[in-house]
Amino acid sequence: MNSGAYDDRGNRDQSLGNSAGMGTVDGYRGDGVARPGAPGPFLIGEAMTGGYGKGPDILHDCTIAVEKGEIAVIVGPNGAGKSTAMKAIFGMLDVRSGSVRLDGADITALSPQARVRQGMGFVPQTHNIFTSMTVEENLEMGAFIRTDDFRKTMAQVYELFPILHEKRHQAAGELSGGQRQQVAVGRALMTQPKVLMLDEPTAGVSPIVMDELFDRIIEVARTGISILMVEQNARQALEIADKGYVLVQGANAHTGTGKDLLADDEVRRSFLGG
Ligand SMILES: Nc1ncnc2c1ncn2[C@@H]1O[C@H](COP(=O)(O)OP(=O)(O)O)[C@@H](O)[C@H]1O
Ligand SMILES: [Mg+2]
Repeated sequence: MNSGAYDDRGNRDQSLGNSAGMGTVDGYRGDGVARPGAPGPFLIGEAMTGGYGKGPDILHDCTIAVEKGEIAVIVGPNGAGKSTAMKAIFGMLDVRSGSVRLDGADITALSPQARVRQGMGFVPQTHNIFTSMTVEENLEMGAFIRTDDFRKTMAQVYELFPILHEKRHQAAGELSGGQRQQVAVGRALMTQPKVLMLDEPTAGVSPIVMDELFDRIIEVARTGISILMVEQNARQALEIADKGYVLVQGANAHTGTGKDLLADDEVRRSFLGG
C-alpha cells in the first residue's frame, strides 16, 4: 500500500465517514463464509469475469481493490470495460466467476440496494442526478435508505460543496456540469458510505473545475472513506491515486501506485500520451 500518500493526506476528520456504515454485516456472521473485518483490501472485486445478459464476457479475470481511506483510480482506453468493472463491483452485472468482498464479507450475491446498505455509494457515469428536482431534493433522494435524521449529513455535504447550499432550491438540471457532478457526489454521500465509487466524475468539465473536484474527493478520502474512481484524465487522476489500475480489453494491464504508473515508460507511451 502506498502508505506515504495516505499519511500525507492524514485521516483526521471522521465527520463524513461512518465507521459503522449503514448496517452491519449480520447476514454473514457465523456462516463460515465471510469474515467481516478480516485482513485484505477493504473492497475488492477479485478475478471478475462476466458480461451483460447472455452476451460475451467483457471482464476477464479482472481484479480491482481499494484500501480504507485510499484513492484507487481505474484508467484505460474507451471501451476497455472500466464502467463494466464498476458495475460488477456494485452488483449491476452478474459475475460468472470471481467475487466481490467488502470489509472481509463476501457480497457477490447481494443486490445493488443491499450493497448500499452495506456501505457502498455509487455515482454512475451518466444520468446520475434527477434534473427536474432541486439540489436539496436530490440530496434527500440520496438518503432514501436512512431512517434516522440525515440533516447533519446534508450540512456536511453543503460544507464540502458550498455552491450546492447556495443553489439548494434550484432545479439540478439548471446547474453547470461541474456543479451537477457535485450534486451527484453529494447525493451518494448522503448514505454515509464507507466506499464511494465514481465513474468519470470530471467528464466534460474544465481543467480548473476538475482540479477543484479532485481536491474535494481527496477531502472525502481524508475522512476515512475509500474512493474508487474511473477517470479519463488519467495523468491528473494518477497523481492523486494511492493505487492505479490500467484496464485493457477487460483485463488488468498494469497495476501499481499512482506514482509508479506515472513513471512507467510503457504506461506513459500507451496511455498517457508519452
Ligand atoms: N449495457 C450494455 N450491454 C451490452 N454491452 C455493453 C453494455 N455497456 C457496455 N457494453 C460493452 O462493454 C464493453 C466495455 O464498455 P464500458 O465498460 O462502458 O467501457 P469503458 O467504461 O472503459 O469505456 C464495450 O464493448 C461496450 O460496448
Ligand atoms: Mg465508461
